[in-house]
Amino acid sequence: MLTLQNLTKTFGDKTAVHKVSFTVDRPMMIGIIGRSGAGKSTVLRMLNRLSDASSGSILFEGKDITRLKGAERRSWQSRCAMIFQQFNLVPRMDVVSNVLHGTLNRRSTLATMFNLYPDGDIHKAIEILDRLGIAEQAPKRAEALSGGQQQRVAIARALMQDPAIILADEPIASLDPMNAQIVMQALRRIHEEDGRMVIANLHTLDTARRYCDRVIGMRDGRVVFDGAPEMLTTDAAREIYGADTDFSEAATSTEIETLDRPEVHSPEVFAEAYA
Ligand SMILES: Nc1ncnc2c1ncn2[C@@H]1O[C@H](COP(=O)(O)OP(=O)(O)O)[C@@H](O)[C@H]1O
Ligand SMILES: [Mg+2]
Repeated sequence: MLTLQNLTKTFGDKTAVHKVSFTVDRPMMIGIIGRSGAGKSTVLRMLNRLSDASSGSILFEGKDITRLKGAERRSWQSRCAMIFQQFNLVPRMDVVSNVLHGTLNRRSTLATMFNLYPDGDIHKAIEILDRLGIAEQAPKRAEALSGGQQQRVAIARALMQDPAIILADEPIASLDPMNAQIVMQALRRIHEEDGRMVIANLHTLDTARRYCDRVIGMRDGRVVFDGAPEMLTTDAAREIYGADTDFSEAATSTEIETLDRPEVHSPEVFAEAYA
């Protein structure tokens, strides 16, 4: 389905991603793990064509998407929807309109200018929100929602594109453990029920282990681990995170300590989200 061949990205004399190769032959849920700066985001950005590869190639269903331009590139981008750590919603706009933004690629400029959405799309947006358990939030402004709810709105917006692949760049890094679990479960369900491929950058090991079928470990721009979560031994983790660090499961864990923790609505969370 998806093949990366020697995918490389350089910024000046810095090699952010070095000859990354892997093949995905069925729609799996994949976690890419590694320390900050390992090259995880750069890989996702090249996959989504937000960023151009310096060399190497990306093939999807036999088609080379590495150098697509214009409408073809946009069409690829709608097939691999991206979600981000900071949700990237329009804070003052209502939830449904944020979700409908996922259809922008295929709407005319005029319809976009006047905020005209077909009834069918509005119904579809509500259905998706309902599926994610947040339909009752539909009329509210995005900024009034908790972080976990906002990330589900971002997932809903991605689903509006009916993507083959969902790319998630640290989707739970700004969430408390309870919401992190809800968001990861939502991604897992979408993967299982819809058969969509999910590739999520995660910086914690336990999340990748718990939700993913396959884990790719990156270090200094290279793939240093690629296998089933069961194969992710402490030694493998040391290889990924660095032998020099005092590696411990606890240090990279987002394990839920208590399930009745209230959702976080603090101003800091919002300030960070829209900085
Ligand atoms: N636009 C850019 N310009 C220069 N260097 C960059 C840019 N984007 C990323 N890098 C560098 O590439 C490396 C990998 O970054 P990134 O892919 O963001 O890592 P990760 O997502 O694993 O934290 C880092 O050293 C980072 O500083
Ligand atoms: Mg990153």
